[in-house]
Amino acid sequence: MEEQFEALVEGILEQGYGTAPGFFDEPLVKELRENLQKKLADGEMRPAGTGKQFTFQKNVALRGDLIAWIDEKHPSSPELAFLDRIGAFVQYLNRTCFTAINGLEFHYAFYGEGSFYKRHLDQFQHDRGRKFSVVTYLNDAWLPDDGGELVLYLPQGEKTICPEAGRIVFFKADEIEHEVKPARRDRMSIAGWLLSVSPVEL
Ligand code: OGA
Ligand code: MN
Repeated sequence: MEEQFEALVEGILEQGYGTAPGFFDEPLVKELRENLQKKLADGEMRPAGTGKQFTFQKNVALRGDLIAWIDEKHPSSPELAFLDRIGAFVQYLNRTCFTAINGLEFHYAFYGEGSFYKRHLDQFQHDRGRKFSVVTYLNDAWLPDDGGELVLYLPQGEKTICPEAGRIVFFKADEIEHEVKPARRDRMSIAGWLLSVSPVEL
């Protein structure tokens, strides 16, 4: 448990990102994936919100995923297990790195075949205090030919990560540009942010 937390923190300190395979176990990943699939079937997944200066068309050229936010106040049982483990990691992070994380926001994301997310920074909601990006993958038996890799643009070069079930990726939201390559099959994940919000905003 703590070893994975340590690996994530060490990764971010030494290479600008941390990643851990099997951060969430298979039964939980399966339940989360089924949650996502049900939301998709029920029409609850929508194109990501469009900022003021963004028309819908511009947004689609940038990203093709459909999202549904996790309601922290009314989580389903796998969502509660997911948030508990993230919460334990946040406690570890705050204790070891003095990060003052005091909020979370997570959404399911579905990339249909051919969908992508062009190179970007997760900073468009900067004022909401996004400090760290955290992505969890829900895809069973992902193969290299399936595409959909996450590419991190690090100072030392590019790092490509395969979106395999249970893997988590962790990086600074306002520093690391990244991209999702076109997926050749349905690609499912939970993406989110660790926030540090001032008491006035809480
Ligand atoms: C995002 C994002 C990466 C991924 O949702 O902002 O960059 O690998 N996701 O899904
Ligand atoms: Mn992103």
